[in-house]
Amino acid sequence: MKVLIIFAHPAFHKSKVNKVLVDGLSDIDHVTFHDLYQEYPDNDIDIKREQTLLSQHDLIVFQFPLFWYSTPSLLKEWQDLVLEHGWAFGSKGNALKDKWFLCAITAGGPRNAYRIEDFHSHTLHQLLSPLKQTAKLCKMKPLPPFVVHGTHAIELTEVKKEKVNLLKLLYELTNDNFSFEEAEKYEYLNDYITKK
Ligand SMILES: Cc1cc2nc3c(=O)[nH]c(=O)nc-3n(C[C@H](O)[C@H](O)[C@H](O)COP(=O)(O)O)c2cc1C
Repeated sequence: MKVLIIFAHPAFHKSKVNKVLVDGLSDIDHVTFHDLYQEYPDNDIDIKREQTLLSQHDLIVFQFPLFWYSTPSLLKEWQDLVLEHGWAFGSKGNALKDKWFLCAITAGGPRNAYRIEDFHSHTLHQLLSPLKQTAKLCKMKPLPPFVVHGTHAIELTEVKKEKVNLLKLLYELTNDNFSFEEAEKYEYLNDYITKK
């Protein structure tokens, strides 16, 4: 299993959580770490290059801080340009067929605020449905997200624990020691990986 992490953070120099989470990911065997804001500082996305990268991997990860319940803008632009009709979707668009898809997200809001009866009035699953459905339209298989909540107040020790969980997740994925069927039963992949 080859994993492509498409990372998007427009203010990485100010990052507290993603800075820890992404450190060293590019050194893991069978993982390609691809930083969109670093690669495309002028937002001039190379569509063919992105499509080639996608076709070389089996699992596509969008890693990003949640911005207005969605992705940072360059990752949205990436979707608009790279997921072309006839390539990613449509009757002849099978380039992403059967690849796995997951989101690795950091969110300022705590987990218990992402409930229908709470502050954000929606679960994160509901808010991520456009991404999930985009993946499905592209014939990919979406997995539950990996999420680090409460980033404003989170202690560094907690971030480091989540980093260990993320590394474990990537290690198990790339070593084919991951049960997709089992993982799909969990709300978040963090729960699957810590219970394993
Ligand atoms: C423009 C903007 C929009 C944001 N929107 C949300 C949001 O909708 N929900 C949320 O929980 N946090 C939101 N946040 C908080 C970020 O998700 C949080 O700061 C980030 O995940 C922390 O990661 P970092 O330390 O790597 O920057 C927003 C932050 C910014 C700057």
